Amino acid sequence: MKDLLMLSFITPLVLLITLVLTISHTQAQTAEPTTIAFGACAHQDRPQPIWDAIVAKRPDLFIFTGDNIYGDTTNMSVMQTKYNKLAAKPGYQKLVKSTPILAVYDDHDYGQNDGGKDYPEREASAKMCLDFFDVPQDDPRRTHPGIYGSSILGEADQRIQIILLDTRYFRDDLDRNTLTDQEKKDVGKVGWYQPTTDTSRTLLGEPQWAWLKTQLRKPAEVRIIVSSIQTISWEKGMECWGNMPHQRTRLFELIADTKAQGVVLISGDVHFAEISKTDEGPYPLYDITSSGLAQKPHPSWPKAINQYRIPGCLYVGENFGLITIDWATKTLCLQACDVQGQPQFTQNVAISALKVK
Ligand SMILES: [Fe+2]
Repeated sequence: MKDLLMLSFITPLVLLITLVLTISHTQAQTAEPTTIAFGACAHQDRPQPIWDAIVAKRPDLFIFTGDNIYGDTTNMSVMQTKYNKLAAKPGYQKLVKSTPILAVYDDHDYGQNDGGKDYPEREASAKMCLDFFDVPQDDPRRTHPGIYGSSILGEADQRIQIILLDTRYFRDDLDRNTLTDQEKKDVGKVGWYQPTTDTSRTLLGEPQWAWLKTQLRKPAEVRIIVSSIQTISWEKGMECWGNMPHQRTRLFELIADTKAQGVVLISGDVHFAEISKTDEGPYPLYDITSSGLAQKPHPSWPKAINQYRIPGCLYVGENFGLITIDWATKTLCLQACDVQGQPQFTQNVAISALKVK
């Protein structure tokens, strides 16, 4: 009798456990995709209709990758006034109400076109950026010079690390090229810079490099490294990591050394959208550039040389980037979308391909 009682107790328990396991297994298999939108280059004096299309995607996160306003000043009252213009945009207000936001500056919102460590108001500008985007007072990003920082979204097996780099605060001078306009045209360059041979120069600064190493060692399935300027493409003569080739190589080597899996790079700056891909890292590395939210390029810029661009992954016109992580198929869908939210190019990447062997 006692055994029968035990059996009648155990059987429903086993059924219940089976049911719970089945449900949780089903939930894991049908987990909602994670959607991360991003964008750059939004002049505060221009109309910004693109916010409606971004909000309509219902992203889990929006990342500003720089030139979020065009500050271009050492007067912090002027800078604040320009941030206030962004805050007053109805579309931006919808974004703030619906979507968590992370942000880094590029040069114009840092305060100086192509500016680096010598911009005199860098400390005030960093604080203003963190304040505007409501970074909490106790956030680690406020505990050191510069605005670099990292956070992890999601839980076990679906962790997304967002690494925000500061490419301005510590950056040494760049070398300007001496090419004539015709010489630039002949080689497909549109900018003013050339790769330096001075390997003592830094883009991130040693403290940020050391911090990045510790971040890349943290467990995550997908990592989005946010750099305001392009990391992979370097031939255009515009600002990019390739103007300090030793720093570009160091980034790729650090990903290999830390065995950081799942890295995807995103950037802005250039006023068009493209995806670059390189095999210089431990696995294929992608840089998804989206720019601008409300800026158009000089007609020559998208025509500049980029040997790394994936054929077809180019869009000229206002756009935002979209990364959709499908956890069921373990696939990343990388897109640039236009003002109506229509994808203008799509590249799918298996997460399993982003692994250090
Ligand atoms: Fe810009």
